[in-house]
Amino acid sequence: MTSTGAGELLQAEAELWCHAFGYLKSMALQCAIKLGIPNAIHRCGGAASLPELHAALPVAASKRPCLSRIMTFLAASGIFGVETPEDGEVTGVRYHLTAASRLLVEDESGSGGHACLSQLVLLIMTPIHFRASQSLADWLKDEDDAAAAETPFMAAHGASFYGFASRDAEFGACFNEAMGSDSRFVAETMVRECGPVFAGLTSLVDAGGGDGTTARAITRAFPHVRCSVLELPHVVDAAPADGTVEFIVGDMLEFIPPADAVLLKFVLHNWSDEDCVRILKQTKEAISTREPKGKVIIIDVVLGSSSCKQIREAQLSLDLCMMMLFPGKQRGEQVWHKMFLEAGFTRYKISPVLGSRSLIEVFP
Ligand SMILES: C[S@@+](CC[C@H](N)C(=O)[O-])C[C@H]1O[C@@H](n2cnc3c(N)ncnc32)[C@H](O)[C@@H]1O
Repeated sequence: MTSTGAGELLQAEAELWCHAFGYLKSMALQCAIKLGIPNAIHRCGGAASLPELHAALPVAASKRPCLSRIMTFLAASGIFGVETPEDGEVTGVRYHLTAASRLLVEDESGSGGHACLSQLVLLIMTPIHFRASQSLADWLKDEDDAAAAETPFMAAHGASFYGFASRDAEFGACFNEAMGSDSRFVAETMVRECGPVFAGLTSLVDAGGGDGTTARAITRAFPHVRCSVLELPHVVDAAPADGTVEFIVGDMLEFIPPADAVLLKFVLHNWSDEDCVRILKQTKEAISTREPKGKVIIIDVVLGSSSCKQIREAQLSLDLCMMMLFPGKQRGEQVWHKMFLEAGFTRYKISPVLGSRSLIEVFP
């Protein structure tokens, strides 16, 4: 056995500390969103000094030194950029938005800036998710019998994720709002980059389409596509009824209304392979198999779709997130391929145009 030098041991200790304190990265980011720091920097023109932040944020005067330390931490983790004056004077330090924190700025003008992901980021950090992940080790030790919880979420909360969301109105609203913010973000890229995917369609059902944000964006961008949303009762009850899209209450495992295309955005990763095949069989029933044939449009992760380290890490984090909350998972192309064939489809096309996620067209 080779002995490890003191330098290496101390480096390893620092590495462990960084991993163990990983939750503080999440909590500092949560704090920044709750205080409105990205908005405050944006209102200052994209960069702000500490005195400007003190004037803009609801932080008690006695705690201002803590804000400075939190900003130093967030700048070190890349959420904000920092410029330090040559004289090192702390009041001269300026923090600016990075590409990531720009996504946390609300579009206050309503003039169509990019989508804001704050609600989605806050959902990821909700104590309800944390409690589920804290029961992971115990859940793994449970024998797989009838009494065992299906997921760590169930072990922690005694209900399935969507059962819990339907009973806890506050959590349900928070979840739907977060999904809506993700949908606004994805739809911006999708309608810009994927126009040909919607060419020739006259109707589309967004199965598990949440509050209808994606369906509305598709109808707005491609007025020839009439969109409806199939959802659970509590989601339809709370959905905005502006008449742009039709909402249908139903269970996608049992029936999907007929349309030229069925969209499944961020849906199949909630389900086991067996249930995905069941849902895909329903989509095949829903779309036309006569000419012109319909198609299924899936937006989900395809593991291995990118060689970018950060995208790979985001995909693996999403996979663990699914393990905590649902009987689902993220999948590589081989697994997707197998499920498509089992459901009776003959071909598919994967377009890795949505960052961590891909757009997959599946044809009968
Ligand atoms: C992860 S969310 C995705 C929502 C939306 N597609 C999006 O990306 O913003 C999955 C959605 O599926 C809905 N859902 C869950 N089970 C369902 C079922 N059996 N039938 C129809 N919808 C269901 C949930 O209510 C939830 O809105």
